[in-house]
Amino acid sequence: MKKAKIGLIGIGWIGSEHGRNILKNSKADLYCIADSNEAGVQAFLKNENHSCKVYKDYKELLKSDIDAVVIASPNAMHAKMTIDAAKYNKHVYCEKPMAITLKDCKRIREEVDKAGIKYLIGYHRRLNPLYRYVKNILTEGKLGKPFIVESEYNHYVPGNLAIWSWLGKKDIAGSLFHGGSGHNVDLIRDMCGEIKEVSCFKDIFLPRKEQVETEDTAVAMYRFENGVIGKVQCCVGPILPFNFGFRLFGTKGTVQNNKIWYEDIPRFDQAGHENDYVKLPDSWVPDNVQGGLSETWKEHMDHFIDVVTGSVPSMNDVHSAYNTSAAVFAALKSAETGKVVQVGGL
Ligand SMILES: NC(=O)c1ccc[n+]([C@@H]2O[C@H](COP(=O)([O-])OP(=O)(O)OC[C@H]3O[C@@H](n4cnc5c(N)ncnc54)[C@H](O)[C@@H]3O)[C@@H](O)[C@H]2O)c1
Repeated sequence: MKKAKIGLIGIGWIGSEHGRNILKNSKADLYCIADSNEAGVQAFLKNENHSCKVYKDYKELLKSDIDAVVIASPNAMHAKMTIDAAKYNKHVYCEKPMAITLKDCKRIREEVDKAGIKYLIGYHRRLNPLYRYVKNILTEGKLGKPFIVESEYNHYVPGNLAIWSWLGKKDIAGSLFHGGSGHNVDLIRDMCGEIKEVSCFKDIFLPRKEQVETEDTAVAMYRFENGVIGKVQCCVGPILPFNFGFRLFGTKGTVQNNKIWYEDIPRFDQAGHENDYVKLPDSWVPDNVQGGLSETWKEHMDHFIDVVTGSVPSMNDVHSAYNTSAAVFAALKSAETGKVVQVGGL
């Protein structure tokens, strides 16, 4: 079978992870890399003992004979790079966020549809075995009807990381809530369906004030089309190890991270009943350890390669990515206006 020729734009922290995962996939060829930092590309190629074409200008990469592109550049570049990729008819894996304005997200949706290319957004956490397990039991009805879903992104990103050169800047990164909690919004949408409206508060509380222009803390309350109530919390810089919390309350069971209580389990009149839960493996709980089981970048890249070679549809296409983005932008608008915002009304 012909290998999918993949071009990679941006070989920084996550781009290197994607590069390694493409190299591990026998159905794909890491055909070329574009990065404005040539030394970074050469270091990656040396480490991985790989050789391929290298470009400084990503447009040269798009003109080459590739089937698909993986975009892992800073956030503000995602829109232009995706739209250019669509013009050159290349399938796109784009790191999150889709774009830093909703207007750009709409444009991306239009251009991707017009070109008829395949698209996958980088919300890999849907593939975490914990969330797949929960989604399965939810779909099978074992948790009953869901009514509350909560997810949190609490991440102590050390202040000395190079990524702070752009991560907190509004015109390069957009918002930290979008960058971090886009994952959570995507996950609760995957579990409970489309979101109708949102109310949100956000602020800057933590010491990295010079580096953070938008917010380091935000809490959004969501109401889904089907009535479910959701909550998403984002905090970048708290005194806490990486914590990607998840809770789902259903009429027949409750999930709290990797513990599940079913209606027939609790014996509230007996001591120790609180320990009477089904426990899923600790390794499934996100801990942000690179290469850990909870990080599903490899499975996600394998999925993209299957999408490109035509064996499966995208699990999170441009329309789904847009809906997550719209729910994020609605939250930010609510925080700015102090009003409840209708996601469909943006
Ligand atoms: N899905 C996830 O879990 C996850 C995790 C981390 C980062 N990300 C996303 O990945 C993206 C990159 O983040 P990172 O942490 O790897 O950042 P990074 O700063 O480590 O890497 C960015 C890379 O892009 C390159 N670059 C900058 N301008 C360029 C241009 N014009 N053309 C080509 N390359 C250019 C830089 O030289 C650098 O190598 C961000 O959008 C981020 O939100 C996603």
